[in-house]
Amino acid sequence: MRRQRLEGKVALITGAAGGIGSASAALFEAEGAKLALTDLDVTSLAPFAERGALTLVQDVTEEGRWRDVVEAVIARFGRLDVLVNNAGIALIGNIETTTLADWRKTQTINAESVFLGCREAVRVMKGQGGSIINISSVAGLIGDAQSAAYCASKGAVRLLTKSVALYCARKGYGVRCNSVHPSFTRTNMVEGFIATARNPDRVREGLAAAAPLGRMGEASEVAAAILYLASDESAFTTGAEMVVDGGLTAQ
Ligand SMILES: NC(=O)c1ccc[n+]([C@@H]2O[C@H](COP(=O)([O-])OP(=O)(O)OC[C@H]3O[C@@H](n4cnc5c(N)ncnc54)[C@H](O)[C@@H]3O)[C@@H](O)[C@H]2O)c1
Repeated sequence: MRRQRLEGKVALITGAAGGIGSASAALFEAEGAKLALTDLDVTSLAPFAERGALTLVQDVTEEGRWRDVVEAVIARFGRLDVLVNNAGIALIGNIETTTLADWRKTQTINAESVFLGCREAVRVMKGQGGSIINISSVAGLIGDAQSAAYCASKGAVRLLTKSVALYCARKGYGVRCNSVHPSFTRTNMVEGFIATARNPDRVREGLAAAAPLGRMGEASEVAAAILYLASDESAFTTGAEMVVDGGLTAQ
């Protein structure tokens, strides 16, 4: 039987009840990882819990909760090898329409939480090694006129990732840190956006056409990239940007 790609590894995934988070959890589980899954509501994660996962309610913006969650993971499984900072929101708004409240909410959930997660993970991974995967977006690489706050938050995740990667490499911690940059992926985040549009079918077609491959991505396709970065197959990869975008940013 082939060796499972995450055999013996303990992985913590935030936003695990969402599209990309739950697809990653399923793939990680199939590849032998022990799972800790968190979200604002973990009801939908009950099947994972029944199969041995630790599921915890976590608001990723709460500093103190990060310590509790990581300590709970160590109490259950003895270590933490992989952190996927995946929780996030997308608020639509350009530079004229974005309120300060929406700006702050977006930075707190999408960027500040990744800082908190990285800091907590490095604390327990240093010495033993580990892999941190931060979910950014193509909006962290190129601009989008209608996503001012979202672009800023995802750009912050991209460069925070590189800072963490360099620091851990130079310290010899054995901790890698990489970012993943999906384009439009079929999850609640995008379906919610489509549903509120005046002409949902046209918006759906436009999102599909945005990628040269002519369709939206699937959560499982993003999860496959996350799995690679979590596994030892990517042992020489740190500070990298993994694009999963159907060719969108190649243009
Ligand atoms: N779907 C896309 O097209 C797309 C593209 C690029 C990047 N992303 C990024 O991928 C990640 C996952 O998004 P998704 O598409 O699976 O969306 P989703 O809405 O299906 O999942 C996001 C999850 O994050 C959780 N969450 C939100 N705020 C939280 C908080 N404060 N604390 C804890 N959990 C919180 C939500 O409850 C939800 O389960 C996000 O960071 C998103 O920005 C998504």
